[in-house]
Amino acid sequence: MELPNGTHKSIFDLFKLNGKRALVTGGSKGLGLIIAEALAEAGADVAINSRNLIDCHEAADKIGTATGRRVIGVRGDVAKSSDVAAMKNEIERQMGTIDILINNAGINIRGPVEEISEADWDAVMDINLKGPFLCSKAFGPEMCERGWGRIINLGSIMSVISLSARSPYASSKAAILGLTRTLALEWATKGVTVNAICPGPFGTEMNRQLLNDPVKYKDFVSRIPLGRWGDLHEIAGTSVFLASDAASYVTGSALFVDGGWTAQ
Ligand SMILES: NC(=O)c1ccc[n+]([C@@H]2O[C@H](COP(=O)([O-])OP(=O)(O)OC[C@H]3O[C@@H](n4cnc5c(N)ncnc54)[C@H](OP(=O)(O)O)[C@@H]3O)[C@@H](O)[C@H]2O)c1
Repeated sequence: MELPNGTHKSIFDLFKLNGKRALVTGGSKGLGLIIAEALAEAGADVAINSRNLIDCHEAADKIGTATGRRVIGVRGDVAKSSDVAAMKNEIERQMGTIDILINNAGINIRGPVEEISEADWDAVMDINLKGPFLCSKAFGPEMCERGWGRIINLGSIMSVISLSARSPYASSKAAILGLTRTLALEWATKGVTVNAICPGPFGTEMNRQLLNDPVKYKDFVSRIPLGRWGDLHEIAGTSVFLASDAASYVTGSALFVDGGWTAQ
């Protein structure tokens, strides 16, 4: 197809990420690991972050070997501004500036509100909401200066619905859509898009309790129109799409990857 500048690209070329550099927070496991692999397969060099450097290096080596891309591991707690600043310096020293930021690191602490402590609330909010704020603030302005960037925040079906025993998690995931929309507006004219991916249930470490409880597991399945949990690879396409030029006119949006849960 013909682009406004007169060049021709195939639709598949629009999804390619060659020449881009991505950071996936919480990329050592679960959905972040799949997203990191998908971005590298699409052509990006990738920095993988978590609080555990050994896990990050293991993931980076595996993806780097499989894809032939430059993939590095960087330690840092996204909830601490000093760690985010140090992580940025380290990524720039080893790899260069970041074009694609995936704010994926997240935790869940479940329980009725009477049993959720102030420390629980702060931990979930700090990692799930303040982390994306700090990382966007650290990496977004330079994307704006260069005139191209992508920020993708991991929301959840709990950005728009909830279940009992999820007060901090659902609050953090609802708020992440507010952050997504606001940054999308602030950077709309700078070539930087900001969107959210809102997954339904996937079988990661975060959901170990549910996976190990046959009653809760079945209850979840009964709420999903597709009749099953997501397979991890099913998060990959959405992340590459939103990170690529194929999504150049998409900003401030939330894309639900939930087997239809929130359609009901
Ligand atoms: N799985 C689902 O069904 C589901 C559904 C909806 C939304 N989501 C969202 O998707 C994202 C990924 O979830 P997941 O299920 O893949 O989780 P996961 O398997 O538990 O992995 C979480 C990742 O985040 C890292 N992490 C946690 N706290 C961090 C911090 N403060 N700083 C840096 N890294 C940190 C973890 O590594 P360390 O602990 O070693 O730091 C790990 O790499 C989360 O935002 C989650 O809320 C997941």
